[in-house]
This record gives sequence, structure tokens and C-alpha cells, in this order.
Amino acid sequence: MKRVGFLGSGAWGITLANLIAQNGHKVLLWSIEEDVLASIKKGRGHPKFPHLNLSPNISVSSELKEILEQDVLVECVTASGFRSVCEKIQESGGLKKPFIITSKGIEQGSGLLLVEVAYSIFGKSQEIGCLSGPTLAKEVMESHPTGAISASPSPVVQELGVLLFDSPNFRVFKDKDILGVALGGAIKNVIAIACGLSEGLGYGFNTRALLITKGLEEMGKLAKAKGANPTTSFGLAGIGDLIVTGVSNLSRNYTFGHLLGKGHSKESAKKEIGAVVEGEYTSLSAHNLAKDYNLELPIINGIYDILYNNEPVKTAFTKLLLEEANCTAT
Ligand SMILES: NC(=O)c1ccc[n+]([C@@H]2O[C@H](COP(=O)([O-])OP(=O)(O)OC[C@H]3O[C@@H](n4cnc5c(N)ncnc54)[C@H](O)[C@@H]3O)[C@@H](O)[C@H]2O)c1
Repeated sequence: MKRVGFLGSGAWGITLANLIAQNGHKVLLWSIEEDVLASIKKGRGHPKFPHLNLSPNISVSSELKEILEQDVLVECVTASGFRSVCEKIQESGGLKKPFIITSKGIEQGSGLLLVEVAYSIFGKSQEIGCLSGPTLAKEVMESHPTGAISASPSPVVQELGVLLFDSPNFRVFKDKDILGVALGGAIKNVIAIACGLSEGLGYGFNTRALLITKGLEEMGKLAKAKGANPTTSFGLAGIGDLIVTGVSNLSRNYTFGHLLGKGHSKESAKKEIGAVVEGEYTSLSAHNLAKDYNLELPIINGIYDILYNNEPVKTAFTKLLLEEANCTAT
């Protein structure tokens, strides 16, 4: 039994914290959402997910120092909040325990994967891991079977991911390519926006299959540029996650794209969803990486043009298809 310090209490955070607790570990949950901590403390569950039966193995704390004293830390905040959480850990005495990252994204400005942000703050020698795969929170809450990758250069941390998360309906596989696994989770959110957008424009399954396949190629190009193993894109944390996010209206990124395709503005689509849309944040980071590495990434650039250059959706979509057709073969 491990004592787990868990950071973040959103949809995915509470799902994972509960999964770990149901596996018999003691979870101490920390969050900036005081109302969520108070509700769980009073035994009323998570205010946004009252149907989720929380394990008695979960307790809460608003003291970060207490979290850092646990045997292992698991993180699940937004990509934009990730650096500030790592900095708080550093200011509170530093990282002395294994650290598993479950958020998905590329930091704006630095172009760093969240794993690389953690390395830049804590040092590369630290025991850092990452968990990613086709894991829509709602389906995991309802115990639909799925799988994810526990990735780390350290076999000990890979195994720790299995110990914490693996269960009959959530199978965990090990991989050493932490950058490839982190990259897949970040990029699929951008491609999912394109897939949702195509449905919003009235296009069918052929179009989504095209976007998923070409999106996978774009993921592979970035993986290679980042020094990851491009074949990781063909696994659960690449194509696996891309398929589920690229076809499912349970995905916020897909739904966001769908609303854009239907004519909503970026702001109104975000308001309608009412929660973080990671693909919006990461499309800017990925676009900048494409420029830095001189890569042809038409889908990523098309989504960036819509979200950050106010390009009309239909014009951008037509352009990205043409550019994709003219792309240099990989
Ligand atoms: N929802 C899913 O199905 C799912 C599945 C797999 C992975 N993810 C990834 O997990 C991450 C979190 O997603 P979510 O669905 O839980 O999002 P959410 O919006 O429901 O929750 C985000 C959490 O981040 C916290 N947060 C934001 N900024 C913070 C900061 N500066 N300091 C401390 N905490 C901060 C919020 O308080 C909240 O607890 C994202 O990167 C997402 O891509 C989500």
C-alpha cells in the first residue's frame, strides 16, 4: 500500500484519485478548489460528480507540505497551471518522491512538453513518469474497460504506475519513451478539434478518418523532432488516444471543434463547454514548434489559424486539406 499525494481535483483528477484509492492505496488530495476539498471532507463527494462513489481511502489537505511527505506524487491539473504547481512544490522543499504526470499539453512560450517542464524545474535525475492513453474520464468513472501507458525512463517508476493504476477495467502497460507518450497525449487534443470541426461543418466519417490518419503523421513528425521514438505514436498513447478523442462527443476538444464548425465563436464555444479545452492551449504551442523545427503540420497550423488568427473555419479547413495533399511524404 502506497501513500499517494494527489494534486488536482478536476474531472480526470478525481477519477484517477478514486481509481488509486479503490486499488487499496491511501490518497491525500490537494487542490486550489477549496469547495471541492470541503465537500469531500464532509462526505458529500465531488460537487461536479455527485454520482461518483468516492472511496473512503481518499482524504483531503490544503497543505502542500503534507502532500510532499507522501510516498509518491501524482499530478492532474491543467497544462497552463502545471508550471505553477511544480514551482510551488519546489518552493515548499523540492521534489523528493517519484512524480507521475497525468496532464496533457505543451507549454506555450517554451514549447516544452509538461514532462520537460518538470525536468527543467526538478532536474532530469528525478524519478518522473507519465500516464496517458484513451481514457475519457466519464467512461473510466463508469468502469468501461480501457488501458493506458505508464511511461518513464526509470523501470521503477513505470512499475509504480502499474501498482497505482492497474485494475481489471484499467490495464496499464509500461514504456520507457516518456517524451513520445507525453507528446501523443498533447497533440491528439489539437487533432480532435479538427475532427469535431469537420463534423460541425457537416462532413462525415471519411473526413474524420483522413484527419486522424494525417494527424497521426503530424504527431510522428513532432515526436521525431522532440527526440522521441516516432513508433510510440502507433500505440495506445498515440493512435489509441487519437481515435477516441477524434470520434467522441464525450471529448471536450472534439465538442469544442464541433461548435466552431457549427458557427460558434471561440469564446462562445468555450463558454458552452464550461471547462478547460487543452487543444486550444496546445495548438499555439504546437504551431510554434512547427515553425521552430521547420515542419509541415497543416492540421495543427489550420487549427491555430482559426483560433489565433480569426481565419474563417471553412477557409482554413479547405486550406489545410490542400496543404496536407501537398505535404512532403514522411
Ligand atoms: N477529462 C478527461 O477525460 C481527461 C482524460 C485524460 C487526461 N486529461 C488531462 O488531465 C488534465 C486535467 O483535466 P481535467 O479534465 O481534470 O480538467 P478540469 O478542468 O476538470 O480540472 C483541472 C484541474 O486543474 C486545477 N488547476 C488549474 N490551474 C491550476 C493551478 N494554477 N494550480 C493548481 N491547480 C490548478 C483545477 O483546480 C482543477 O482541479 C488535462 O491536461 C487533460 O488533458 C483529461
